[in-house]
Amino acid sequence: MNPDVVKQFGGKLLNIYTGAVLTKLIEIGFQVGLFEGSRAGPATTDELADRLGLKERYVREWLGAMATSGIYSYDPASKRYSLPQEHAALLTGNSAQNLSPMSRMINHFGTHLPKLTACFRQGGGIPYSAYRPVFTQCMDDMWRRIFDQLLVSGFIGVVDGLTDRLRQGIRVLDIGCGTGHAMNVLAREYPKSTFLGYDIAEDAIARARAEAKEMGLTNATFEVVDVTDLPGDPTFQLITAFDAIHDQKAPDSVLRSAQRALAPGGTFLMIEFKFSSRIEENVANPFAPMYYGISLMHCMPVSLAVGGQGLGTVWGEQTARRMLGEAGFGNVSVLDTPRPQNCMFVATH
Ligand SMILES: C[S@@+](CC[C@H](N)C(=O)[O-])C[C@H]1O[C@@H](n2cnc3c(N)ncnc32)[C@H](O)[C@@H]1O
Repeated sequence: MNPDVVKQFGGKLLNIYTGAVLTKLIEIGFQVGLFEGSRAGPATTDELADRLGLKERYVREWLGAMATSGIYSYDPASKRYSLPQEHAALLTGNSAQNLSPMSRMINHFGTHLPKLTACFRQGGGIPYSAYRPVFTQCMDDMWRRIFDQLLVSGFIGVVDGLTDRLRQGIRVLDIGCGTGHAMNVLAREYPKSTFLGYDIAEDAIARARAEAKEMGLTNATFEVVDVTDLPGDPTFQLITAFDAIHDQKAPDSVLRSAQRALAPGGTFLMIEFKFSSRIEENVANPFAPMYYGISLMHCMPVSLAVGGQGLGTVWGEQTARRMLGEAGFGNVSVLDTPRPQNCMFVATH
């Protein structure tokens, strides 16, 4: 045994546990507005607490962790803490760069640990319903920002000819649409096209409908539908699935169903996580441990809970290509997206 390696690994474990604790504290900062409140400039613990109507003692302890971890800087002369603007860029605001909503999702998954641990011995899974309504809110917090900033130009815009077809007017279906923001954004952008969103989650569909109404959209509708078996009629010129295939009970049936529901010349757009199906090719990928973990804590057990295939978030490009082929898609290409952890499968008949 090499004592230097033991020491090194001890350091790595310290970072891992520190990251776990800070993830919880980032969620607190996100929930009570500490990051947003810090944008107004450097503040003492009293000043920041006053700014936000919070209890100073709690804010002080939180800032202790923020300053010693390097998320905030601290000036001993003025006793003021500041959130550098480069850090604020990733923890505040409505842009897709704001990563603080991710902390809530990770922490929420952690609340299911006793059930997950039991699954290792007993099998089975954790049903989707156990994660709601927090999951619905977390997904919305993360993806709404992504859709607002990147959907039109970064996802739709890079698929050859798709923007023109949407401008002219086509029928679009989003499977596993969650709170529907993607369809609502596209419905506003392309008024000649019609947009339909399906999801099994009633809370998510209610929110999607409410938002469409708020936005005054007449070309976006949402239904509670299990997408495992879509009718082939009517057909759609564009079917999208944003992060919604790998956690299905029967992803193979969903893909076959999508293929049947696609009009001739139509496009199936599947946004997934950019991994290889071979673990050895993911070892150097910095996103891999997190997404294997997210898969284990949510995407895989929700599928296994209903006797599903439990494909997992890291099913990878090779498996996805094979399954798209088996579903009847003759032509599949894989495009990069503005988010390095995602890729986009563009499939046609
Ligand atoms: C990871 S979420 C993605 C939600 C949304 N596309 C987004 O990007 O925010 C996956 C969604 O698929 C839905 N879903 C899972 N199985 C489904 C099924 N069989 N039929 C319809 N929706 C399903 C879930 O309820 C959930 O909203």
